[in-house]
Amino acid sequence: MKSVIVLLGPPGSGKGTQGEMLSEKLGYTRLSTGDMLREAVRNGTELGLKAKGYMDSGALVPNDLIIGLMKEKIAQAKGGVILDGFPRTVEQADALGQQVDVDLALNLDVPDEELVKRLTMRRSCPDCNAVYHLVSNPSKVEGVCDKCGGKLYQRDDDKEATVKNRLQVYRDNTMPLIDYYGGKDVLVTIQGTGSIDGIFEQVQKAVQ
Ligand code: AP5
Repeated sequence: MKSVIVLLGPPGSGKGTQGEMLSEKLGYTRLSTGDMLREAVRNGTELGLKAKGYMDSGALVPNDLIIGLMKEKIAQAKGGVILDGFPRTVEQADALGQQVDVDLALNLDVPDEELVKRLTMRRSCPDCNAVYHLVSNPSKVEGVCDKCGGKLYQRDDDKEATVKNRLQVYRDNTMPLIDYYGGKDVLVTIQGTGSIDGIFEQVQKAVQ
């Protein structure tokens, strides 16, 4: 079994959805930089105050704010880890490589038109970070989280104009990591379209 798994893929490709399912299945810790940053923003911490403007515009938060945070979280995690949203730049990937060996980089490939549809119709739970989609993966009761009863909301960066900027930021900064991990022979690309369960079957095959 792989013990450090990096989830790659554009915004909306299903990293959170598949990462959560995989962490439950393997008993690994899922570390999502997006969830951590949103929590910091909600709590008004120093990190949250610094990160908010970048996140709202769809830009990346500066490397120096993220690398130290993730180093600490990875060091604290017991057993295997699933990294969702980190690394996102070559500088972050180099820093990660100095700390641990990445066993698998799982790249979810989804076309842009589908990503825009997914993100603009996503609803998220602020309390447990579960995600839903108004059409493909709705909550049982509209507006209410199935898992914890939290009140679902639309992320500020899931508005269409910001989504388009996030896709460009992904192409400029994060896409190069596909070749980066390909060159290290740990990359597996999975078609991230189709049913959530069907994609999860392929994800499970990749981690064996
Ligand atoms: P982050 O929260 O990491 O956002 P992201 O990478 O843009 O990814 P998303 O959470 O939007 O999508 P996802 O791939 O997890 O898809 P999901 O499973 O939710 O980051 C947010 C911001 O934080 C960044 O913009 C940046 O500012 C900052 N940040 C974070 N990490 C950083 C870093 N390392 N460095 C610098 N800055 C950083 O699915 C999407 C939707 O599709 C859901 O509605 C879901 O239900 C639905 N769905 C999932 N699978 C399917 C399917 N197969 N078919 C149909 N619908 C599906």
